[in-house]
Parts: sequence; C-alpha cells; structure tokens
Amino acid sequence: MQPEMGQQLALVLCLLIACVDSQYISGPESCQLQHKGNNTKFPKEFAFGVATAAYQIEGAWNADGKGPSIWDTYTHIHPDRIADHSNGDNAAESYYRFAQDLVALKELKVDFYRFSISWSRVLPRADTTVQNQKAIAYYNMVINKLLENNIEPMVTMYHYDMPDELTKFGGFTNEIMIKYFRYYADFLFKTFGDRVKKWITFNEPFDYCMQGYGNAESPPIVHAPGVADYLCMDNTLRAHATAYRLYKAKYASSQGGKVGITISSRFYYTSTKYFGSDEVVDRAMQYALGWLAHPIYGASGNYPYTIIEDILSNSVKEGLAWTRLRPFNKYWTEILKGSGDFLGLNYYTSRFVKMSYPAEGEIPSWEHDSGLKYLIDKNWKRAKSKWLYCVPQGLEDILKWIRDNYNNVEVYITENGWSDDGALNDTDRVTYLKSHLQAVLNAINDGCNVTHYSHWSLIDNFEWNMGFTEKFGLYYLNMTSENKERVAKKSAHYYRSVIESRKIPSSDKFV
Ligand code: BGC
Repeated sequence: MQPEMGQQLALVLCLLIACVDSQYISGPESCQLQHKGNNTKFPKEFAFGVATAAYQIEGAWNADGKGPSIWDTYTHIHPDRIADHSNGDNAAESYYRFAQDLVALKELKVDFYRFSISWSRVLPRADTTVQNQKAIAYYNMVINKLLENNIEPMVTMYHYDMPDELTKFGGFTNEIMIKYFRYYADFLFKTFGDRVKKWITFNEPFDYCMQGYGNAESPPIVHAPGVADYLCMDNTLRAHATAYRLYKAKYASSQGGKVGITISSRFYYTSTKYFGSDEVVDRAMQYALGWLAHPIYGASGNYPYTIIEDILSNSVKEGLAWTRLRPFNKYWTEILKGSGDFLGLNYYTSRFVKMSYPAEGEIPSWEHDSGLKYLIDKNWKRAKSKWLYCVPQGLEDILKWIRDNYNNVEVYITENGWSDDGALNDTDRVTYLKSHLQAVLNAINDGCNVTHYSHWSLIDNFEWNMGFTEKFGLYYLNMTSENKERVAKKSAHYYRSVIESRKIPSSDKFV
C-alpha cells in the first residue's frame, strides 16, 4: 500500500474508534519478562561486555597535545547548557587511571570492552598531518592491557566528539567529512588493527545529527531541522561505507576483523490493535532504525521507500524545487549496500506511537515529515533520565524486527542501560539488567542472530547535557576523592554472576 493511502486509512479508522491518548494506553509490562524458548543458558560463544566513550570518561581534555573536540568547546562556552554546569575536562580521568578501569573490567569478567578513541586526541588537526605519539601510546597501552587480560577490545571510532577543527567548514553537513573520516579510519586500522578486530565506525548518527544540526540541543548547535540533520546522516552513511570498503580492500585479508556501525532505536507499539497499526509501527521503525540501517543492511542500498516518498512530497508542498532528502545514486547504493559485518544496536527504551493529524513539529523537520506522535504507558517505570522507561519487551521485539527485515544480520547490542542517582544499592538497575538479558535470551531462542551484549556503562560518567546528574555505571565513581575510586554497585555483582554462569540468575539476593 502507498504510504499516503495508508495514512488516510489510518486517520479514518482512528476517528472511528476515537484514537486514544496516553492515559488509556497499556501494553508491554514494565521491567518484567517471562522466559521463552528451550535454552536457559546463553550460547557458549555469546560475548558479554561493557561500554564507555572517550569524552565521557577520559578527562585530560588538553593534555599531551590533544586538540579540542566540539564537546570541549561547547561545554566551555556554554556551561549553562549542562545541567550541573560541569564538563568532561576531568571526568573519570581514565586517561590517567585506566589501571583502575582494568581492575573493574577484570572483576566483572567481561569478554570484551567497548571504548571509543578520541579523534582529536590522536589527530589534533583532524587530518593525518599531525599524529600525536603520546595519544597513540595511550591507546596502545589500553589495547595491550586488555588483550593481556583476555578482554577483547571493541573500538568505536567516533562517539559524538568531532574535532573542533572540522566545524570551520560545516562539520557533517559538508561532504568533505567523508574524506576526513576515510583518512582517520585508515590511520586507525593501520595503527591498531593488528590487535583490534571489532570496529564501530559511528555511534548513534541519528542522535548527533538531530541534536547537533536539527534542534540544536548539542554541538555544533546548528538549528536547521529537516535539512542539515538529513545532510549529516547522509554524509555519515557515506563516510561509514567508505571506511568499510577501505577496510575490506586494504586490511580485511591481513587483519581479519569486522566493521559495523551503531544505531540507536526504540521499538514502537500501537495503543489499540486497529487496522493499520502494523503499518504505523513499521513507519515508526523506518523513521528511527530504518533511516540508517536500511541503506546498509536492506536490499536497496537506499533509504526506506516511505521516507524518500514522504520527504519528496513534503518538499514539493513546501514549494521547493528539490527534495530535502536526496536518495543515493547508483554509485553510492552499491557502496552502501552490505557495508556492515554486524549491526550495532543501542537499545534503551520504547514508545507507543500513533499518527498525528495534522503533523506536528516545525516545517520542515523530522517530526513533521514523519507525522508520528509518541506516547508512553503511565505504568512504565522511569529512570532518572526523563526519556528512559523500562520496557524489556521492546528489546526482544526490535531484535525480531531486525531478524525479519535485514536477513537476520549479526547483531551486537552495543549499549543498554539505566540511570539513577548513583546509589551502590542499585536494585532498579539489577531489575533492568535482568529483564533485558531475558529479552536477549528470548530473542536468541527465537532464532535472532545476536552475539554480543554490552552494558552501558562500566563507570558513572559525564552524561552529556545532563553532566554528572544522571549515573549509568555498574561502578560508582567517587568524584570528590583524590583517587577517584571505582566502587562496585550491586548491579556489578549481578552482572558478574550472569557472566560466570552464562545464565540469568534470580535477582532475589540482589534486590
Ligand atoms: C550514548 C551514550 C549515553 C547513553 C545514555 C547513548 O545514547 O551513546 O553516550 O551516555 O546513551 O544517555
């Protein structure tokens, strides 16, 4: 069915059955999930890990020749934009205290550690003309120590912290980013690829594009929704695929690693099972995961058809002579299609969804183009973060959706986690972790090709615009003490018992 017709039909039916609002909604239970399927144990080769990101933990923002990133500049110029007026200048000081992080990693007995490399630390000018030897030595030390302790490094090449230098010519809105990223990627593969076998090109492009170039909530604070955010995703996709092809051509045969991308997405439910509800769920999934996943893991090497069509028709209605979302040409569809050895998924929460008539949001914008409206179930348990509700069923369902839509591509869950005030007795995090691991196991039992689970995060860290007011760590970080000790929370003990037993133990003695 054509999207337009679908929307009209959904509208009529919505009116007929009086589309309900959030108060009436009830759906998947909060923070609980029953076991499904035969196996109660994770497969032998299933890997458990934890994740962090450079700006959120390293500190040492200008040490040893590091260049500034957009997050350094932003937090220094606009402390008012950060909940507690803090910044990542020092954070967990992991640049100086990796030994302490390693103790925690060993205690947890993780199989792998996902961390990110700070681009402006290794290449302060963003290009390869200046290569910072001290930074290279630091990451070599991290990688070597992990391997000595049988912990596999999984490296994110870009986690929000663009070298500030690149804002001078428009950052991700300029396609020169493809070239810059290609040379950065080449440098990383050459320098660390003999030991790093799992590479994630970009972390959550949707988030840094929408917030950095759409609604201007984060750096580089460009407000151009429906245009610059789309350009950012377009250039990110092409930079990703270019780095992937480079790896395949130049490094894959000698290094034998895998390259993927991490995409964030929620799963979506409709409040009533009215006719057309599956279509609305599918539409919401395309506007979230599909935007970035479809070109890489789908059959066409291009954006989802619905999105291409909607934005073309909206652009025309707005009086433009071109579409704000240019579909990829044949050259790029061929490069993009299949440019991922695995799909990295960050899953935190879910939403209910319905069509909104008229469409909400600025004209133009992603909200307006999608015409979707999101709701929550008032019974869902909420974390410290306003956006984060505990809906483990959504993780099971999104994994099945990926299985069915992307030919059961291998999935690494690269992030999943819960925020609170930082208490050691973090029983809500234990409940969140337990129910989400159950979702993963249920999905595996149902044939989903998910092979890695990584919890966000190893330690409490700098939570972007929320500063240090929201904590996601399995380890508490004593910020005021001189040694910045990492102290295991209850959830760290629980996670270790999962990793040791490869099962989901009862949480009774942990909650
Ligand atoms: C990001 C992390 C962030 C976490 C919690 C993810 O979207 O990759 O950097 O700390 O969510 O908000």
